[in-house]
Amino acid sequence: MSGTAFLNELRQGTGLISVGVLTADLLSLGSELALIAQAGVKLVHIDVMDGCFCPMMTVGPPFIKAMKTSMLKDVHLMIEEPLDKVKDYVAAGADMITVHAESGKHIHRLLQQLASMTNVNDPDRGILRGIALNPGTPLEVVRPLLDEVEMVLLLAVNPGWGGQKFIRSTESRLGRLREMLKGAGKDVLICVDGGVKRDNIADIARMGADIIVTGSAVFDGKDPLGNAKDMIKAVREAVNV
Ligand code: DX5
Ligand code: ZN
Repeated sequence: MSGTAFLNELRQGTGLISVGVLTADLLSLGSELALIAQAGVKLVHIDVMDGCFCPMMTVGPPFIKAMKTSMLKDVHLMIEEPLDKVKDYVAAGADMITVHAESGKHIHRLLQQLASMTNVNDPDRGILRGIALNPGTPLEVVRPLLDEVEMVLLLAVNPGWGGQKFIRSTESRLGRLREMLKGAGKDVLICVDGGVKRDNIADIARMGADIIVTGSAVFDGKDPLGNAKDMIKAVREAVNV
C-alpha cells in the first residue's frame, strides 16, 4: 500500500476515532486493546510525554513496540527536539507520527526525513506525518509545513494529562483550519485531540474533524468496549458514514 493509498484508506473512514491508552489498565494492556479492537476501533493513540515539553512523563519506544495489535499505532510525540529521536518510534512500529510545531528547531527537516522512513508494519505504507499545535499556538504556523504533512492535529487541551476539559476556542480554530486547507488546496486530515467525551464528539465530527482522539471517555475503568462502540456510533451518525 502506498502512502497515498494509506491516506485514502483513512479518508474513507472519515469519522474515525483514535483511542488514547493512557488511562487504560496498562498492566493488562493486551486485553484492553482487544476490547477496543472488538468495538471496531482502527487507530490507537499513544501519548508520549517526556517531562520537558510537558509536565508528565509517559511511555517511549519499548512500550510502543510491546503493544501487540492489528490497530494502527498513532503516536503523538510531546517531547523536546524530536529530530534525532523519531527514528526510534518508527523502529518501534509507529504507523502515524505527530510532532509538535513548538517542540523543535527543525520541524520541517524532521517531516522531510519521516517521508523517507520505512513503516516496519507495512513497508509500502509509509509513515503518516502529523503536525500538532497547542491551543495557544497560531494556526499560521502550520502553513509552511503543509507540503510535508498528511494530518494537522489541533490539541483541545494543554498537553500533559488525559481527562482535561475541552477548550472551546478549538471549535473556531477548527473552522479556520478547514478554510486554510481549502484555500491552499491541501488534502490534509484534521485531527482533534483532548477533552472529547460522549457529549461533544458528535459536534466535533460535524465540524469537520477527520480523526477524533478520545482517551479517558473510553478507558474510564468501567466499560471500554461499550464506550468505544458508543463513540463510533455517535461519530458515524454525525457524519452519516
Ligand atoms: C493530552 C493528550 C491527549 C489526551 C486525550 O496531552 O495529547 O491525547 O490525553 O485524553 P482525553 O480524551 O482524556 O482528554
Ligand atoms: Zn494525544
